[in-house]
Amino acid sequence: MKQLCFATNNAHKINEVAFALGGAFEILTLAEIGCTEELPETTGTISGNSRQKARYVTDHFQIDCFADDSGLEVDALNGEPGVDTAFYSGSRDHAKNMAFLLTKLDGITNRRARFRSVITLVQNGEEDQFEGTVEGRIATNLQGEGGFGYDPIFIPEGYDQTFGELSMEIKNGMSHRAKAVRALVAFLA
Ligand code: IMP
Repeated sequence: MKQLCFATNNAHKINEVAFALGGAFEILTLAEIGCTEELPETTGTISGNSRQKARYVTDHFQIDCFADDSGLEVDALNGEPGVDTAFYSGSRDHAKNMAFLLTKLDGITNRRARFRSVITLVQNGEEDQFEGTVEGRIATNLQGEGGFGYDPIFIPEGYDQTFGELSMEIKNGMSHRAKAVRALVAFLA
């Protein structure tokens, strides 16, 4: 069976993609290919970082690979936090990151935002990118405790509840990552 590295050690992401591929590929994690170093993410864009991570693995480990990168883009903040989503407040603390974003949006009525996910596949030296977005708006306060990251303050279009309140089934059916993964799977199939 053809081997493909997914440049992550996040078990949740691995399971999601392996399930979607239905056993057509053997998916290997970074740990499984012996990659223990931090992958570079220095390009300043979500798509650039996704490409940089996939290329790093294929260049250093001689295995076909795909990598994902995602972030939240807020229109009233000119696309911030974007590529800085994970460290927006200066730390990886999601409570602090959400509080920081809510403070920045204090008094601003345009709450429009989207999650964006970009997957880069490098196979036989060829590069392809797959993107998924989910449109929505930023709530005025934290609502719900489900999900992770910014889920308690993101209300997807067509709903009144945040990703933190909606079920995983609903979120996974429409999320940015799910859409990018579906595009990748359709390409590989
Ligand atoms: P990553 O590139 O997938 O690790 O995502 C970067 C950051 O974006 C994460 O640390 C989260 O803060 C945020 N993020 C990405 N996807 C989601 C999501 O589905 N819900 C909430 N936050 C997310």
